[in-house]
Amino acid sequence: MGDSGKKRAVVAVTGASGIIYGLRLIKMLLSQNCGIFCIISRAAAEIMPAETDGAQNALQALENICTKDEAQKLKCVKFFEEDDFYAPCASGSFMFDAMAIAPCSMKTLGKIASGVGDNLIIRAAEVALKERRRLVVVPRETPLALTHLRNMCAVSEAGGIVLPACPAFYQKPESVDALVDFVCARAVSAMGFKQDFLKEWNYEEML
Ligand SMILES: Cc1cc2nc3c(=O)[nH]c(=O)nc-3n(C[C@H](O)[C@H](O)[C@H](O)COP(=O)(O)O)c2cc1C
Repeated sequence: MGDSGKKRAVVAVTGASGIIYGLRLIKMLLSQNCGIFCIISRAAAEIMPAETDGAQNALQALENICTKDEAQKLKCVKFFEEDDFYAPCASGSFMFDAMAIAPCSMKTLGKIASGVGDNLIIRAAEVALKERRRLVVVPRETPLALTHLRNMCAVSEAGGIVLPACPAFYQKPESVDALVDFVCARAVSAMGFKQDFLKEWNYEEML
């Protein structure tokens, strides 16, 4: 939480397939009225037009999936490039509540696992881990090499939450967006933020 008392989230989008996970995660966080610091990797920026309706950048892609009300809140999203080590979230002195990387490529996962902070995404992830803030990574790869599995283990041991892009089907999803939103809602919860998409399982009977 920053000096203003407003919550802050860092969301990074890397060049794994599934750019939509990052976009819909940001869309979901817009309802939280928090400040969102968004880092788009170079690879993600290249894949963006192919995996969206031709959007040339993340803001355009977000505008395309947001309602009018949500679009008004896009001014709370600040975008940063991966080389920008002067961005606030490169420093532990800048308070943010949680960070998510969605989708998280195997390259970025491996660099976090081994502490190679050579871009802003990995540096901000390191900040989250060292400052004991929530870090949620949403890897997207299949099948997984032993190196990928070991890197997931290392990130988990370091305190990160590994939340694979694995939607469930018990909600009877009727669209691709619903499948994606299942994963995003779990990621938003894992970040410690509120989400309204998923209800707690059987919560009424468990009172
Ligand atoms: C169309 C496309 C799809 C890709 N999908 C994946 C993927 O699902 N998972 C992954 O780990 N890498 C994937 N890659 C490879 C990454 O983009 C590549 O490793 C890149 O260097 C990741 O950089 P970043 O982590 O800095 O974004 C894909 C590349 C392309 C061009």
